[in-house]
Formats: sequence, structure tokens, C-alpha cells
Amino acid sequence: MADNNHPRVVTRAKFSARAAAVAAIPSLRMLNSYLSTSTYGLRRNDPGICDFTLGNPHQMPPEAYVDTLRRNLTPQNDQWFAYKTNGAEARAAAAASLERLLEVPFEPEDIYLTTGGFTAIAMALKAVADPGDEVIYSLPPWFLYEPIITEAGLVPVKVRINPETFDLDLTAITAAITPRTRVVIVNSPNNPTGRIYPPTLLVKLAALLEVASAGNGHRIYLVSDEAYNRIVFDGTRFHSPAEYYPYTLLAYSFGKTHLAPGQRVGYLALPPTMPDRAEMREVLEALQISLGWIYPNALLQYALPELERFSIDVAQLQRRRDRLIEELTAMGYLLHRPEGSFYLFVNSPIPDDVAFTEMLASRDVFVLPGALFETPGFFRISLTANDQMVERSLSGFAAAITESRGG
Ligand SMILES: Cc1ncc(COP(=O)(O)O)c(C=O)c1O
Repeated sequence: MADNNHPRVVTRAKFSARAAAVAAIPSLRMLNSYLSTSTYGLRRNDPGICDFTLGNPHQMPPEAYVDTLRRNLTPQNDQWFAYKTNGAEARAAAAASLERLLEVPFEPEDIYLTTGGFTAIAMALKAVADPGDEVIYSLPPWFLYEPIITEAGLVPVKVRINPETFDLDLTAITAAITPRTRVVIVNSPNNPTGRIYPPTLLVKLAALLEVASAGNGHRIYLVSDEAYNRIVFDGTRFHSPAEYYPYTLLAYSFGKTHLAPGQRVGYLALPPTMPDRAEMREVLEALQISLGWIYPNALLQYALPELERFSIDVAQLQRRRDRLIEELTAMGYLLHRPEGSFYLFVNSPIPDDVAFTEMLASRDVFVLPGALFETPGFFRISLTANDQMVERSLSGFAAAITESRGG
């Protein structure tokens, strides 16, 4: 109640305009309600459901992973749990592993350890973009780009991928560039399509960003979201945009490779080809503190040199991919074969993907509707469901497509 001592303040909204804008983002609101009040939200903990929604584990974590954490928990000195910044050993391990993966000699000083891919992306945007600057990314996107962009006071600019190949549409990206463009986000291997963008396309992208930067009179940066760069199938070699465009900020998360997204650790890396890295280093170090000491916990930093060599069983994911593709295709579903990440992005048999996901839900099969990815007419299956869920789900997938055809 307002009184004379505490007059009601009516001249300002309760929340900052920016926070209110984030809270109002339709895809974020939809995700929140999907996780809380939808059929999935209400039934997500029911035993016996087949959960293909989020990239969460549905089997016990491997002993090797747990053992590594256990070993590194034991303090070796009185500073074990003191404040940590960018631990030298963790940085060196990350740089060496990036070099093994990409054959690019990353320097440990160019690895900025973060609490996962989220903060690496947020930090990259804040490092190079000013409020009002535009950030281009492709639909279907990881559904949290828009909140991260909006929270930074930036403007999301969305273009569509090529619907046939699931490749980036370079013509659409070129057309979307304006004098306010500061960043293009690229996500390969892609969530949700599973596409890995080939070097030929990345070379063309780099060339177009060079031309556009020159035309704008300022540098357009590329933020390469590589959360899934170790989850690749069929022996495919992953190529990073950082190999072709020196102004690339590479965001990585261990959450996918370890299938332990609750253990928050990742990094932002600068390629050795990036000019003026010394200035960028100072900016990133300042941001790591000012964004809220976004370094990973001490335990994860100690464990990283060992954990860095650990991966979930990608061959098992690939078998699951193949099993589902074979079965779903035989039932009449249309889908691409993903080259990486751990998702299948499937054409919904009816245009209303939300209605179709409900048909699946009524058979205990839970997937994410394409609407969550601003791409109606599709649904996403996460291959992190366990093998038992895959087998149990097959009759549900078959019955739902029959129902959708009026059967
Ligand atoms: C494409 C993409 N980028 C970034 C992230 C963030 O990863 P993390 O939760 O490990 O920070 C995710 C997680 O789902 C993702 O799918």
C-alpha cells in the first residue's frame, strides 16, 4: 500500500525495458510453457514415457566421467576452492584439443573459459556489438539466440536456411546485411537440422563477410556456435568457420560432448589468425568478470584436462539415428539424415506441428514442435533418448502418422 512515507512510484515501469523485452519473446514464452504447462510439462516425469525433447541424458553417466570428477574434488592445497579465473592447464588442454580437431594452432591465452556455450555466445556478442547493432542468424535456430541477443540490447535479424539442403542461404544473408550489422551467428553442426556446413560454403560466407565489412566500413564478426563440433557421424570431418574467416569468435560447450549439460563448462576461443587479438584479450577478460565471474567452477577446471578427452558414445548415437531413420522412413515420415549434433528434424505429416506433437504425446512419445524453432511444419527428435525409449516409441510414431492421415 502506498502511504505518505512510501508514495507509489508511477513514473517508471517495474522492470527494465530490456528485461521486459526478453521476457516477452514469443519463442521463449512458448518454450517455458512447453516445459511447464503443456502435456509434456505435466507428464515429463512419468515413468515409461519416451522423451525425445531436450538434449538431456536418459541413462546413467559413464563411470569414467564420474571418477574424473571424484578424483579432482579432493583438495590438493588450501587454495583448491579459491576464486578461479582462466586456469592455465584447462586453457592449454582446450587449445590443444581445438588444434587436434581443426589443425589450427590455437593459443592457450586465446581460450576464455565459461559456464558453457550460453555464456560464451553472450560474451562474444557483448565484446563486439553495441546496443542497436544487428545480429543475423538462420532459422530454424537454437531457440535461445533471441533471448541472448535481446538481453544484450541487440537486434535479431532472422533469415531462412535453404529448405532443400538445410544449408545456409548465402543470398538471404547478403540481403539481410545493413549498415547496423555487426555479427552473423553460424551453428554447425546444426541444432536442429544436423547439417554440417561444408568448406565450400564457409569459404563463400567468409568472402561475402569481407565484402560486406569493407562496404560497411566496419568489421562484421562471425560467432561460430560449435557446441556439437565433436558429435559428427559417418567419419565426417568437421570444419569450423574459424578456419576461413579470421574475425571468428568460436563458442564451445562441453555439455554436449559429455552429455552433462548441468555441469556448466565451455569456452570462447579466438583463432590465431585474428588481427588485434591483444586488444580483444583485454576486453574478454574484463567481460568475464563484469558479466558475473562467468568462469567454470574450480572442480570442472581441474578435471578439464582429463574430461577434455572424454566423449559420449557417438557410435551409439549414430546407431540410434540409423534405427530411427529406417523405421520412420518406412512409416512414411520425411526427413534428412543428420551429419552431426544429436537431432532429427522431421517433416510433420500435417501442417500443424503442435497438433501432431500432441498426437504423439497421447501415445507417450514426446518431441519438440517446429514452432519452437520458428519453423512450423516440422518436429525435432533428440537422439539422447535411450535405446529402450526408441524401441517403445515405434508403435506410437506409426499410430500417430496413421491418425494424421485420417486412419
Ligand atoms: C546450438 C546450441 N548452442 C549452444 C547451446 C548451449 O550449450 P550449453 O547449455 O552447454 O551452454 C546449445 C544447447 O542446447 C545448443 O543446442
